[in-house]
Amino acid sequence: MSEPSPVNFGNYQNDIYLNGLDGHLPPFTTDLTALGASARERLDPGAFGYVAGAAGSGATHRANREAFERHRLVPRMLRDATARDLRTRVLGTDMPAPVLLAPVGVQSIVHPDGELATARAAASLGVPMVLSTASSYTVEQVAEANGPDAPRWFQLYWPNDDDVCLSILDRARRAGFTTLVVTLDTWTLAWRPQDLDQSYLPFIRGVGTAIPFSDPAFRAGLAQPPEEDLIAAVLRWVPMFTGTDRSWERLSFLREHWDGPIAVKGVQHPDDARRAVDAGMDGVIVSNHGGRQVDGAAASLDMLPEVAEAVGDRTEVLFDSGVRTGSDVLKALALGARAVLVGRPYAYGLAHGGEEGVRHVLRSLLADLDLTLGLSGHRTPGELSPDSLRHRPS
Ligand SMILES: Cc1cc2nc3c(=O)[nH]c(=O)nc-3n(C[C@H](O)[C@H](O)[C@H](O)COP(=O)(O)O)c2cc1C
Repeated sequence: MSEPSPVNFGNYQNDIYLNGLDGHLPPFTTDLTALGASARERLDPGAFGYVAGAAGSGATHRANREAFERHRLVPRMLRDATARDLRTRVLGTDMPAPVLLAPVGVQSIVHPDGELATARAAASLGVPMVLSTASSYTVEQVAEANGPDAPRWFQLYWPNDDDVCLSILDRARRAGFTTLVVTLDTWTLAWRPQDLDQSYLPFIRGVGTAIPFSDPAFRAGLAQPPEEDLIAAVLRWVPMFTGTDRSWERLSFLREHWDGPIAVKGVQHPDDARRAVDAGMDGVIVSNHGGRQVDGAAASLDMLPEVAEAVGDRTEVLFDSGVRTGSDVLKALALGARAVLVGRPYAYGLAHGGEEGVRHVLRSLLADLDLTLGLSGHRTPGELSPDSLRHRPS
C-alpha cells in the first residue's frame, strides 16, 4: 500500500537516544556490518554457514563489499535537505523507501517463525518483501502474516515441470503477490565449501520446501504425500528446481502466465539486460546472489553502471549484493539503481530476534539511509547521480 506521506525514518535515532534515558538500549547492534559476527554466536554452525557462506573462495562475496568501499559520496552543503521524501514506485509497487527485502530461502533455519516473522516486520514498515520459492512456509501462510495491504513480490525458482510452475504462480497471484522475480543465476547450486564441509543442505531434509510440498500439482505427481514419504518428495522436488538451464525464449512462457510485472534477477552483463528487455521483462535485478553462485564473478556494484546505461531508460533496474548501510544504498542509486534489495542483514536480524530483529535491522538501515541522504545534500533518491560519487583514490 502506498504511504500517505513521507516517513521520517531518521526518527529511529531519536527513539534510541530517548529510550536510553530510561536505561533501554537497542535490542542488538545498529551497525549492520557487524551483525554476521554476532549471528555466528547465536546460530548452529550449519545454519550460520548457509547464511554467511558464499561460493568457492568467497572472492565475489568480498568483492561486493570492496566495490562499495571504492566508491565515495561527495556531500553537498546548504541544499535545504531538512524535509526528505524517500518514497519510490518500482514495478507498479509504491514503497516508502527504495529498499526491499531480498528473497532469502529456508528462513526457519535461523528462527522458527522464519518468513512469517519477516512478513510481519516488513508489513509494519510498509517495506515490500520478496518471498522465495524456497520458503519454510506456504505462500498463503506468508501472505496472511504479511496482511491484506502490504506490498509483496514472489521469487520463482523456475520448476522444469510446467504444471507445477503454473500452479505455484497461480497460488502466488491469488495470495496477493503482485510482481514476479525470476531468479536466473541459480539453475543449479554452486560449489559452496561452508555447506559442503558440513554436508549441510536444508532442502534434502525437507526444509524450505513448504511451497511445493503444499502444491496440488506437485503432490499429484507423488505416489505418497510428503508427510508419508519425505525422501520421495525431496527427490522429486530438488531436480525439479535445480539442474535445468532455461533459455531467453522460454521467458515468454512466464510472460504469458503472469499478468503483473516481471523482473529477472541475477543479471550482470549489459547484453543479458538487453535480452531481458527484448524478452518483455519489466525489470532487471543486477545481482550476483550475494557472491553465492559464481566465485570470481565481478562485484555486482561494478556491473551496475553498464547495465543501467544499457537498459535504464527502457526498464526498471534494481540492485543487490553487499548492501549493508545507508550509504551503500545511496551509492547503488547514484549508479543507476531504482531500488535495492538487502539479503543477509535481515536474515541475521531474524536470527537475533525474530520479527523484532528484522524490524530493528530495517529501521536501522532506513534511518541510516534517510540521515545520510540528507547529510549528503539530497532530499529525494531521484537527486542522486553518478556525480554524487567519486572513486576513492588508490
Ligand atoms: C541464506 C540465503 C538464502 C537465499 N535464498 C535465495 C532464494 O531463495 N532466492 C533468490 O533468488 N535469492 C536468494 N538469496 C540471494 C538474495 O536474494 C540476494 O541476492 C543476496 O542475499 C544479496 O546479497 P547480500 O546478502 O549481500 O545482501 C539468498 C541469500 C542468502 C544469504
